Amino acid sequence: MTPVQEQFSKHAKEYNSHNIIQQIVSKALVRDLNFEPKRILELGCGSGQIFKNINFDFDYYKAIDFSSEMCDIHPKNKNLDVICLDFDSQQFYDELENEKYDLILSSSALQWSKDLSKIIKSLSNISSNINMVLFTSNTFKTIFDLTDTISPILDLKEIKKSFDNFYRCEYEVLNYKIEFDNKKDLFNYIKNSGVSGDKKTLSFDQAKHLYKNYNLGYLEFEVVFIKGTNC
Ligand SMILES: C[S@@+](CC[C@H](N)C(=O)[O-])C[C@H]1O[C@@H](n2cnc3c(N)ncnc32)[C@H](O)[C@@H]1O
Repeated sequence: MTPVQEQFSKHAKEYNSHNIIQQIVSKALVRDLNFEPKRILELGCGSGQIFKNINFDFDYYKAIDFSSEMCDIHPKNKNLDVICLDFDSQQFYDELENEKYDLILSSSALQWSKDLSKIIKSLSNISSNINMVLFTSNTFKTIFDLTDTISPILDLKEIKKSFDNFYRCEYEVLNYKIEFDNKKDLFNYIKNSGVSGDKKTLSFDQAKHLYKNYNLGYLEFEVVFIKGTNC
């Protein structure tokens, strides 16, 4: 199990109560669809935030996530395959090689890809339409500033570069804040939210400094909505 996989698996049960932003953006992603695709592929499906919002008939839906705990709690459906697979692995590329989809969806997941360009390039061969939302490196910005560390998440420029090579894209960047009554709840949220990923970069002293100096009553999130077509 890779560290990111471990993080999501460990928190799979608490995930549904710590994923307010993911729920908001998944809902917005589905609401924004301008057609009703019949064949849908989803990457990093988690506990099914996107799937739960699909309110139209489809012929086939393939949902992929590398956490078996997440796959286990994903809703089930007769036209749905939930497949436990790492989207950075060769098996993923083999799985999709001869497939075609009307639309590829992904919410709050692809920022973790080890090679976003490679994924988007291969997706461009199997679907002309993508609707995705990714967290950007401005998520938890003040925390990274205060600890003088770099976000493990890709920045907006890198994200755009990966998509622009293979799709004509519209981008919309949105910022969210979640307010907390106290610092303990605020830092617990980061741990359970699935946004902090695998990088446990802070030493004990850095963590102490951060806890003492983080004076915002809220956490910062930045996401980018991407609508791409190549037909
Ligand atoms: C923040 S959660 C989002 C889940 C869901 N899309 C949602 O909106 O609630 C990120 C998901 O991406 C999955 N994930 C992260 N890296 C992955 C990878 N390399 N391959 C497959 N799934 C991955 C995690 O297991 C997790 O379920």
